[in-house]
Amino acid sequence: MKMKSYLPPLFLFLLASVVGIQAQGTISNALAMDGKLSTLLSILNNNPALTQLLDDKSYGQRTFLAPSNTALANYTANLTSSGNTQTLMEAILSYHIMNGSFPASNLTSPGGVAAATFLQNSQYTNLGNGSSGNVVYASQYGSSGESNTPGKLEVFGGVGNSAPIVTTDIRYGNGYVHIVDDLLPLPQTCTGSMGKLSLSSLLVALNNAELSQTLDGTPHVTCFAPTQDAFTAAGSPENKLPKPDLVNALMFHTLGKAMYSPDLKTGASYQTLANQSIKVVRDGGALYLEGDGGGKAKVVMGNVIVKNGVMHVIDQVRLSFSKVGFC
Ligand SMILES: *[C@@H]1O[C@H](CO)[C@@H](O)[C@H](O)[C@H]1NC(C)=O
Ligand SMILES: *[C@@H]1O[C@H](CO)[C@@H](O)[C@H](O)[C@H]1NC(C)=O
Ligand SMILES: *[C@@H]1O[C@H](CO)[C@@H](O)[C@H](O)[C@H]1NC(C)=O
Ligand SMILES: *[C@@H]1O[C@H](CO)[C@@H](O)[C@H](O)[C@H]1NC(C)=O
Ligand SMILES: *[C@@H]1O[C@H](CO)[C@@H](O)[C@H](O)[C@H]1NC(C)=O
Ligand SMILES: *[C@@H]1O[C@H](CO)[C@@H](O)[C@H](O)[C@H]1NC(C)=O
Repeated sequence: MKMKSYLPPLFLFLLASVVGIQAQGTISNALAMDGKLSTLLSILNNNPALTQLLDDKSYGQRTFLAPSNTALANYTANLTSSGNTQTLMEAILSYHIMNGSFPASNLTSPGGVAAATFLQNSQYTNLGNGSSGNVVYASQYGSSGESNTPGKLEVFGGVGNSAPIVTTDIRYGNGYVHIVDDLLPLPQTCTGSMGKLSLSSLLVALNNAELSQTLDGTPHVTCFAPTQDAFTAAGSPENKLPKPDLVNALMFHTLGKAMYSPDLKTGASYQTLANQSIKVVRDGGALYLEGDGGGKAKVVMGNVIVKNGVMHVIDQVRLSFSKVGFC
């Protein structure tokens, strides 16, 4: 029986919706259903490599953070005037493809979710663990996942605006599509990210300790980055400490492994590169780190994704009152 071929296309489309066949559809089919995604659709139609990254069955489940027309508006205006637009667009959109199935019910869980993407371009990814893509962090509880009350669901990438998720759980053949109203900024180096956040004293400290290149070049690190106010309040130790003490103090603020906030278990201690440990404390809607000597710093901006791991901005340089602190 070939009844189906006599049915008009619209009827088939409606039928498909009713029985859920659209879940088998291509990314183009899914994006075409929402008028807010027409710019993205035309970008994908002109980019078979990106379309394949989303449609190829062999990569397993994926979750696409689909930038709306609003998110792409400024960007595409800029693209026409810049050089290597194809490579850049591929990097940006591959950073919006999470490796795995992450429905909204998953992303909204307290503490948030850190997930690898398909961003493998070595200009933005140096995690040193094979072909894994760099990571995004999704949270409804702020950048460190600790707010007491849920706010908007947003995704954090490289330093810059977080991207709010405005529409959730559109199904397509390989997983989920969530619409974001801003682009996720690509990860930069640690020192590049510190520059964007105006952490000038920290940059001076790294420079005086001759550690900038090591920090930027080492795969898979976590950097606890004190704010500018923290350095000022501590009397600008970046200019006063002898180099060995500065090196030790900076090592004390670094872990030799990328630990996004969900990886930092409450009450657990982690050994820093200075071989002394810091302990994770969660209290009253905030994430803290405690040094051996009793110093305690609050994470004021969590999960800034960098090329070689993650940075958490903290409000104190006095993580430790023993000789490894800055003071
Ligand atoms: C686009 O640029 C304008 C002006 O700079 C700004 O107000 C607006 O927020 C931008 N929109 C996006 C989506 O970046
Ligand atoms: C567009 O270009 C301007 C000037 O170079 C820059 O300030 C702005 O951040 C760019 N916008 C986007 C979305 O990349
Ligand atoms: C979210 O999904 C990931 C990957 O499937 C899984 O490891 C994690 O446990 C899920 N979290 C929640 C809260 O469902
Ligand atoms: C590589 O490291 C990232 C960041 O820690 C992690 O999300 C990813 O699962 C790792 N991949 C492998 C294959 O270990
Ligand atoms: C996605 O995850 C799978 C399973 O963990 C892994 O084999 C694959 O290398 C990952 N791909 C990327 C681009 O990270
Ligand atoms: C930390 O311990 C390791 C292994 O014991 C050693 O190789 C390294 O030099 C030590 N680092 C510091 C800063 O003491």
